[in-house]
Amino acid sequence: MSSQKEFKQQVRKLYHKLIAAFGIITISVFLFIYIALHPSAFKNSPEETSIIAVPEVDGKIENGIHLATGFVDGEGLTEVIQNCTNCHSAKLVTQNRMTEEGWVATIRWMQETQNLWDLGDQEELIVNYLATNYAPQKKGRREVLTDIEWYTLPAN
Ligand code: HEC
Repeated sequence: MSSQKEFKQQVRKLYHKLIAAFGIITISVFLFIYIALHPSAFKNSPEETSIIAVPEVDGKIENGIHLATGFVDGEGLTEVIQNCTNCHSAKLVTQNRMTEEGWVATIRWMQETQNLWDLGDQEELIVNYLATNYAPQKKGRREVLTDIEWYTLPAN
């Protein structure tokens, strides 16, 4: 083998190494940028994996009602939409009226039996929203009659 050929081979080897190194550096840089831009994709904390699917929150509100779901507008609406419409219709929520304790109990029941996730620090806001906007109505039944003039049916 002539020394010139050997030299060429050496140069080619070096060239290949440089290409490999350049490739590795390029990939690393892209990976680094990706991780820097999407930190949540590499975390596994319960807060970030707890919401199975966040439904699109269409914000249109008319006469104090969120049109897409029928929820009353109020503080916590977004959180309620995000956490309470994944498994069942919003109607199942809005047709109910409960006290704060009642709502908490319903949430616990769903957590224990229906795989509802831990609502974390959003629970307070959600329960507040529900207890405020879907509280039991004070006069669910008619008031007790007073001042009645009784009359006796004539006997035949
Ligand atoms: C992981 C799924 C899931 C999520 C999320 C969820 N629920 Fe439920 N929920 C259920 C299931 C399942 C039922 C029972 C449905 C049925 O009986 O048809 C239910 C029933 C209910 C009921 C009716 C309870 C009854 O006694 O009839 C209410 C009210 C309710 N959910 C409110 C909520 C609220 C408020 C949220 C948000 C904090 C929520 N749900 C989020 C699964 C879920």
